[in-house]
Amino acid sequence: MTILSDLHQDHVNLNKLLAVLSNKLEELKRGEMPNFLLLADAVDYISCYADAYHHPCEDQMYEMFKGAGCPELDEAIVRCIEDHQQLKQRSNDVIEAVECVLTDAVVPMDQFTAKLEAFLNAQIEHLNLEEGTLFPLLEDVATDEQWDKLALELPIMDDPLFGEKQKQRYIDLYTELLRDMH
Ligand SMILES: [Fe+2]
Ligand SMILES: [Fe+2]
Repeated sequence: MTILSDLHQDHVNLNKLLAVLSNKLEELKRGEMPNFLLLADAVDYISCYADAYHHPCEDQMYEMFKGAGCPELDEAIVRCIEDHQQLKQRSNDVIEAVECVLTDAVVPMDQFTAKLEAFLNAQIEHLNLEEGTLFPLLEDVATDEQWDKLALELPIMDDPLFGEKQKQRYIDLYTELLRDMH
């Protein structure tokens, strides 16, 4: 079960960043200008971490438990695998939009705000689907043997360099985002 706890811990960390970013979104809606570089960095972190590490682990886990005889689980798995593709697109949209803001002052702010909001909503909805539906179903269906087998097959979860670098980047980002809050 440590696989699920590790993924759950990622969700907790992610959720904290998303909460601070939601606060930035509110600032934007009030017409205030956030620190765009910092915002882009946070979105980039979420995207890099998820694409390089978190989603590949989940995708492999979902492949293993697909067709386990639980239609509700199968349905949630299909949705989540699709979400992973879509989330990547949404984060790219925000990062591109930030680049436009930084190079061209005439980017309409409401367009930018809409992209950030779509990104945040998609992330939050995805987390809720995994935490609220998929993970509990997996806990019911999966056997200890399957968890053991999966643990051997998964990409190395704690590549020390990648892991440590990401951990530090997370702490730095989170601290800076909090400091930047009004
Ligand atoms: Fe996921
Ligand atoms: Fe996840």
